[in-house]
This record gives sequence, structure tokens and C-alpha cells, in this order.
Amino acid sequence: MKLSFSRLVQAAALASSALGAILPTRGTEELVDRASGDKYVFAHFMVGIVASYTQDDWTADMQLAQSIGIDGFALNIGKDSYNDQQLGYAYAAASATGFKVFISFDFSYWTTGDTSTIAQYINTYGAMDGQFIYNNEVFVSTFVGDGFNWGDVASQSKPLFACPNWQPGSFGGDNGVSCGFSWGAWPNQNNQPIDQNMTTTLDQEYITNLGSNPYMMPVSPWFFTHYGPSSYNKNWIFYSDWLWNTRWDQVLQLAPQFVEIVTWNDFGESHYIGPLHPDNPSVYAGGDTGAVQWVTGMTHDAWRDVAAPYIKAYKAGASSPTTEELVYYYRPSPKDAACSDSVAQPTGYEFDDDLVFVTALTTSPATVVITSGSNAAVSIDVPAGINTVSAPMGLGQQVFALQRNGSPVMQGTSSQQISSTCTVNNFNAYVGKVTA
Ligand SMILES: *[C@@H]1O[C@H](CO)[C@@H](O)[C@H](O)[C@H]1NC(C)=O
Repeated sequence: MKLSFSRLVQAAALASSALGAILPTRGTEELVDRASGDKYVFAHFMVGIVASYTQDDWTADMQLAQSIGIDGFALNIGKDSYNDQQLGYAYAAASATGFKVFISFDFSYWTTGDTSTIAQYINTYGAMDGQFIYNNEVFVSTFVGDGFNWGDVASQSKPLFACPNWQPGSFGGDNGVSCGFSWGAWPNQNNQPIDQNMTTTLDQEYITNLGSNPYMMPVSPWFFTHYGPSSYNKNWIFYSDWLWNTRWDQVLQLAPQFVEIVTWNDFGESHYIGPLHPDNPSVYAGGDTGAVQWVTGMTHDAWRDVAAPYIKAYKAGASSPTTEELVYYYRPSPKDAACSDSVAQPTGYEFDDDLVFVTALTTSPATVVITSGSNAAVSIDVPAGINTVSAPMGLGQQVFALQRNGSPVMQGTSSQQISSTCTVNNFNAYVGKVTA
């Protein structure tokens, strides 16, 4: 089972206001104001790919999520035979770790005829300790499912707080909905890649249409999927070069009631921030022909370190990171490398630049030094805060350093080299970090 983004027509709008990626240019005062009221951050979790999870696996993921300030998982379910077993583990693990979960019904599988089954899920799991309760109601969400009548569910269930992922125009009317969630986390137009950075135009449309109801804003670091014509035939990349840093700045600007990170573990679309499970590659979905091709070894863990100070800022108004770190990311090959892959380069690949990126978390001004392959070292000054910089990609070793007044503060060499010899047109990102 996998998330079918291709079924969507989420028109991300186009106003091109490239946002600066500098956190401290906004006043702390303003952030504090906007952070009033309880705010929650969730991560979208694909239950469909963890048929073999144990409760300990759930606990480990929840503890990692908790350590950066994530409050809960949105548990995406289709109609898999192991739903109950895995939901049971998830709710038990949540209860034991003080984490929260809620169900996100995937309406690629559920239909408007499923009202009473959905009500049963809400009654069963909504009564459990791990359930996220909001407004004294059982929080529930979806992937698509526009027009489903949540009021009909509520008439057969515990009181619920429905926050479905509908198109912005679907809200309003008497449908039992309390909140809205968008899936528009990537620059696109009618689900086609575009050569633009992410904007908040679609978010603003949701906020306007929701009126006084809360908005759950999607935040994602990347999107690359590479299933060939003999498989799902889903092969594209949404321009993600600057996305993670930019999008979190947009979260601080809009200060929505809820944030949902998309995703924790959707490996097939390369937007995971959870750990790889090298001992359990079946979670990569699709075995030899599937995501294992573009996910193996491509850790995204350090992206969680970028989210952590942003989550703090979103919730409490803190405006700067308190520890310094360089989080670097890049594709493993230049975009025109002639990889020996029967699946072509992804649609939208031409918009990517052959750059290596560093998101610097700094407590005072400093200089980032990038030495990419045999290219000459590139030095870029950054102010205090969270800032993403880049340098042209060179083949071979990738070395990253932070300096202050010409003296090294930290330096490290990535364990992932960049190579033009490749067997997969892999546009996933390798993410690593340098700490002091
Ligand atoms: C996205 O933003 C970055 C940082 O401001 C900028 O360097 C880059 O050119 C922008 N990309 C596009 C496609 O506008």
C-alpha cells in the first residue's frame, strides 16, 4: 500500500515570493505573540508498510519523534488485514511513552459507504490512552475523502474532532468537520513539478476557507519517487532543493494551530524523516524493484535536527537554535549522470541544480566552508539562526566546516561520495551532519 499522491490534483499556487531562509530576521516578540495557545506537531506515519513491526519498533520511533518535540503520529491506514494488530501496538507504545496518536483514514481505500466501520474504529481506538484528544474530542484525520459526512460518523461514535485532508473549496457546509489539513507541501501545479520554491499561497487559501476552524499545515523536506512503467509508473521529483528550511520559516510566519510533517516513513516518495530500518528492508515497500533502490543508505536523520529548533520556536516563541550544527544534504550523482537505469530520470529533474546544501544552525555569525570533490573550497558567511547555503557539486568526497574568525569550529567528511557512475537515477537526498 502506498500513498497515492498522483490521485490528487492539489494546485499549489504560484506567487513567487522566494522567502529568505533566515529565522532571526523576525522579532522574537512577534513569534511569542503568534505562539499563544497550544500548538501541536504530528508526523504522518504509513501503517501499511510496517506489517512486520513489533511494539518495540513503534516505541523506538516514538521516542525519536518525541526527542525533537513531535507530539504524535497521524496513523495512515488503508484496509490491510494487519491494521488492528499494528494499531494495537501503536496505541500501546504511545501510552507507555506518553506520546499521542490518531487515525488518518486513507480514502484511496476507504469510501463514503464506510461510515459505520469508521465509527467503530473511533470508538475502539478513541477510548485508548494513546489517543490524541483535542477539545475533549477524538482527533481524526484523512488522506483525501472530500465530502465524506463526519457528522454521520459522529452520530454513531464518541464525540470527534475531524481534520480531514480535503481540497480547500470543500470546507464549509454541514459535514461535521472541525478543522482542515492540506497535502500541498511541495511546489507543484496540478501535481506537475514546477521550477519554483514553496510559497504559502495554498495555505492562505485553506486558512481563508476554514474561517475560525483550525488549519493543519503540511511540512515536508523532499519528494522523489521512481517507480517505472512496469510498476506504479510514478517517476518525478518536486523541486525540493531549499524546501525544508523554507517551509519551516513559513510555519513560523503562519503559526497554524497544527503542523503535520509529511512524512515519518513514506520511503517510496523520499519524504521520510524517520530512521531507515536496515535490518528490516521490507518496510521500504516493493522489494528489489521498489523504494529499496533509492532509499538504501540514504539516511535523512539529520533533518530531524533542523526540525527540532523550529518546533520549539513554533510552540514557545524561542527564536534561535541553542546548539550549533551543520546539516548537509545532496543527491548522490549529478543530474545528467548517465546511470545504467532502465527507469529514466524523474519528471522535473531538470529543475534541480547540481549543488550540495548545508543548513547551518548557528548561535552567532560564522562562515560555512564547503569543499565538494576537487572543487576549490567555497566560503559563505551566515548570520545566527537557521540558514541554508550551497556550493556547486563536485565528484568525490564532500567536506563541510564551520569557521569563526578564520578558526575551525567544526569539520567533517560525509560518508557518501558523489559519483557519476551509478545504477539508479537516484534523486533522493543523502542527509548527514557535522557537530562540534
Ligand atoms: C529558491 O530559493 C533559493 C534561496 O533563496 C534560491 O537560491 C533559488 O534560486 C530559488 N529557486 C528558485 C527556483 O527560484
